[in-house]
Amino acid sequence: MRAITKVSLIGFMGSGKSSVAALLAPTLGFSLVEMDDEIVSRSGLASIPSIFEAKGELFFRDLEAEVARSLSERSGLVISTGGGAVERPENVQHLKAHGGVLVYLRTSFATVVSRLGDISNRPLFKIPEHALTLYNRRVSIYERLADLTLDTDGLHVGEVCSSIVELLGDKT
Ligand code: S3P
Repeated sequence: MRAITKVSLIGFMGSGKSSVAALLAPTLGFSLVEMDDEIVSRSGLASIPSIFEAKGELFFRDLEAEVARSLSERSGLVISTGGGAVERPENVQHLKAHGGVLVYLRTSFATVVSRLGDISNRPLFKIPEHALTLYNRRVSIYERLADLTLDTDGLHVGEVCSSIVELLGDKT
């Protein structure tokens, strides 16, 4: 296997991507990229909910695609993706370009709900039944795209991070 230069964490909202990425990046000696933060800073708006409210989801998705494209040529990154970032095939291509791997943090819906707590920052989680439908649809996408999959239910951030490091072996 060629050297891994970018590790993108994929998975549903509440799967722990941001917390794990924040620990994994310094562990690997890579830089941390929070896709949602990059989107917010490109939008000129204050937050993800305000982007959805003022401009709509398509605008958000287009910015997300721009961010994914901007990461394609970069290396030495741990990327915390938004839960919907892998919906567009071209985003996946960019994240996988030049030695990028996708690590799926597989998490049950019950755990997602308990981890999320305050959902005010997640426009797509406002209506729990809709969130469950989205979850069920997304799970098969994550499964299909993942290079590595890790079950996170019942694990602490540190345990997830160590398992990823172990799975990546000496390829980074
Ligand atoms: C989204 C997930 C969010 C954020 C946006 C849309 C999604 O990121 O990108 O609200 O479509 O699942 P997190 O997965 O970090 O919550």
